[in-house]
Amino acid sequence: MNVTIIGTGYIGLVQGVVMSDLGFDVVCIDNDATKIETLKQGKSPIYEPGLEETLKKSLKNGKIKFTLDYNSGIKNADVIFLAVGTPPLADGSSNLNYITAASKNLAQFLSKDSLIITKSTVPMGTNKKIKKIILDELKKRNMGNLNVSVISNPEFLREGKAVYDFLNPDRIVVGIDENDNKEKIKKEIYKIYKYFLKKQIPIIFTNLETAELSKYSSNAFLSVKISFINEMAMLSEKIGANIEDVSKIMGFDHRIGNQFLNAGLGFGGSCFPKDTLAILNIGKNNDCEMSIVNSAVKFNDDLKDILIKKIKNKLGNVKGKTISILGLSFKPETDDIRESPAIKIIKKLINLGAKIKVYCPQGMEKTKRELENYSDCIKYCKNEYKCAKNSDCLILTTEWEQFKNMDLEKIKNVMKSNYFFDFRNMFSDNKNIRNYFHYYPIGRN
Ligand code: UDX
Repeated sequence: MNVTIIGTGYIGLVQGVVMSDLGFDVVCIDNDATKIETLKQGKSPIYEPGLEETLKKSLKNGKIKFTLDYNSGIKNADVIFLAVGTPPLADGSSNLNYITAASKNLAQFLSKDSLIITKSTVPMGTNKKIKKIILDELKKRNMGNLNVSVISNPEFLREGKAVYDFLNPDRIVVGIDENDNKEKIKKEIYKIYKYFLKKQIPIIFTNLETAELSKYSSNAFLSVKISFINEMAMLSEKIGANIEDVSKIMGFDHRIGNQFLNAGLGFGGSCFPKDTLAILNIGKNNDCEMSIVNSAVKFNDDLKDILIKKIKNKLGNVKGKTISILGLSFKPETDDIRESPAIKIIKKLINLGAKIKVYCPQGMEKTKRELENYSDCIKYCKNEYKCAKNSDCLILTTEWEQFKNMDLEKIKNVMKSNYFFDFRNMFSDNKNIRNYFHYYPIGRN
């Protein structure tokens, strides 16, 4: 089966590479020439465990191709996946320019009845708009008689675990337009997702709007869960409770579940911040207040100021102090720094006059680019020990496994002073930690 994927971001690239490994013949289209060149050479533009190895294997076997050219990418496609980005605009709404452009482009080369599957996270009603754009373009080519179905098939994979999540989804959601031939599309989906059927992964068929909303709803709910536990963590610090025990106790309740209850410095990344803002915008446009999601977003922002206040309380004036930051990516096992809480904390500390040293196993290059304007105030270090050297205070902002194994005595000995804010509670159970540092975890003494 010939599969064409438009967009080689996290979702499109993982989908393309893994499907090629499952035996499909895959063509990936992108309009970024540098990216396409990099991919052709077997290099992944993103750090994602397992991805580059499989990419190299599929290139070697001829199962995957990368191109800038829609014509060659579309003409032999049995199914087309749309996986272009939908980044936020200033008002929080999704920028649909890329998906509109991709839909127009692909319509120039369709020559038979086609199934288009949207993986991108898009506001409710967008899939119907995509279909209209494609049909309008086809009419211009006098090919309005082609039967084109656009279905919504949102992707729930996590960065850092994207390959695993693609192969082991909790569920597959398929939203179908009520005017389309549901049974025919179901048959196609069973063919494309045979691998998942064998694994008995639930496939939920529903209408387009429900599928579209299910993605936003899942991400918004998880964001609320994180803000909720972080708010309880701040209360725990005030009243002498231990948030990690609170999370454990809550997690034993099956109705609550034990995941996404780790207190920290708030959610970041390319999805939760973007999708929560988008759902607030969609709510506003539909006269629904969405006050719960709104509070979760607001608390997630406020939390950074609460934590800065905590640093100032313990450390005194941060002006002129050297502060070392461990971890820049928004979470471990990724080089993605989009909406990373670490970056927000760094900016706030610099504005207060601190000198910053940073180290991250993967996030350094992207941070250098993002914080170019702050380069006078930031020193990029080769490892955690160089980062800690001569500093007044250490802040652990991303829970990379590598940090768990660092030599705490060595870290303490190279530092000027010994304040340690562990914003991911990586060392909260380490019995020795207080022998070395003035140690401040999140949500517990
Ligand atoms: C998320 C969703 O999990 C995924 O289903 C969707 O497709 C894309 O968005 P991702 O952004 O890769 O995936 O990261 P995830 O692991 O969900 O973490 C999101 C943020 O929440 C990170 O900043 C993480 O540090 C934070 N988080 C997560 C917590 O602070 N506490 C937790 O208990 C869990």
